[in-house]
Amino acid sequence: MIQLQHETSLNKLAERRILVTGGAGFLGSEVVRQLSLLGAHVTIVDNLSSGKPEYINNLENVRLLKGDIRDLDLVAKVVKDHDLLIHMAALPFIPDSYHYPEDFFGVNVMGTVTVVWEAIKAEVVERLVHVSSSEVYGTAKYVPMDEKHPTLPHSTYAVSKLAADRAVFTLHKEHSFPVVLVRPFNSYGPNITQPYIIPEIALQLMYGNGYIRLGNVESVRDFTYMADTAKGIIKTLLTKQVIGEVINLGSGQGIKIGDLAFLLAKIAGKKVALEVDSSRFRPYDVEKLVCDNKKALRLLNWKPEVSLEEGLRRTLEWISRNTIRFKAPFKGWSAAYRQNMTY
Ligand SMILES: NC(=O)c1ccc[n+]([C@@H]2O[C@H](COP(=O)([O-])OP(=O)(O)OC[C@H]3O[C@@H](n4cnc5c(N)ncnc54)[C@H](O)[C@@H]3O)[C@@H](O)[C@H]2O)c1
Repeated sequence: MIQLQHETSLNKLAERRILVTGGAGFLGSEVVRQLSLLGAHVTIVDNLSSGKPEYINNLENVRLLKGDIRDLDLVAKVVKDHDLLIHMAALPFIPDSYHYPEDFFGVNVMGTVTVVWEAIKAEVVERLVHVSSSEVYGTAKYVPMDEKHPTLPHSTYAVSKLAADRAVFTLHKEHSFPVVLVRPFNSYGPNITQPYIIPEIALQLMYGNGYIRLGNVESVRDFTYMADTAKGIIKTLLTKQVIGEVINLGSGQGIKIGDLAFLLAKIAGKKVALEVDSSRFRPYDVEKLVCDNKKALRLLNWKPEVSLEEGLRRTLEWISRNTIRFKAPFKGWSAAYRQNMTY
């Protein structure tokens, strides 16, 4: 459990009115849980396209408004009652973006512009934290990847996130509106909403037949436990030096997807064989992402606290106790991602 109560500065968030878009999602629900523990008053705007109310039920001082960030009237009405805003609502699952580019640009870019612009016009929001993604960098030109790494996004998802980043940054400059851009590298843990790689491997491990079928097992990613990522995001609400800055959040350790599968199997105490399934290869895949987290350490005093082994253990444990149902706002969402299948 993350030791929030020992961080006196975070206690300044008690009684603050904080709006979290996408707060019923995987990362959002953890951000909201930690804010609730800190005594903040949280409003979530989430259309529940992938987020789940059960992930934020029973949290104190948390209210869910089911709605879409593209709904201008709703956003305009809700922002004016808030001091701080964390914007995380997005369509985040890369393989969907190959088939639904208009939805990805509609939500991730125009939805973001709506949220930021209404926050600026409300004239009461003291700071907006925009949750971007390491995917905007594209595959590593060098590792670890700092905030000065070139942005050469590969997928439609990544391009939409980068377009949103640029819109947020430009609106910040044009209107002197305080924003922070946070770029998490891959996060994992409980409250699963999307068939990201760790849920994918874990579910095959737990419910499969001794084989793990994956695409690019050679690709390298940097995994951070969701409670650490969430804490980093929350910390950007307070520090003055991060206004107008981009901050990477990641563990700093890269691991090949194939090795990750064997590590998960070892923790689960299972023997498995790895099978490369060419139908799972992503077009124009990102080969390597490894975070340089020195700026987060310097400006936020943030570093991850949960080791990969411990985080994976917690994730497997959570999966064994919970039913997972993936859903997406798309008609005919690829059967390969097992829409409506229940674990
Ligand atoms: N999980 C990761 O590894 C990771 C890494 C980098 C960045 N991010 C970013 O973090 C944020 C959260 O992602 P996540 O992994 O928790 O995924 P998620 O799908 O669980 O969260 C997205 C949330 O936004 C909501 N949402 C989607 N479209 C919406 C709309 N039009 N209006 C209102 N709500 C809407 C969904 O219902 C969901 O609750 C996203 O911005 C994503 O790009 C995630």
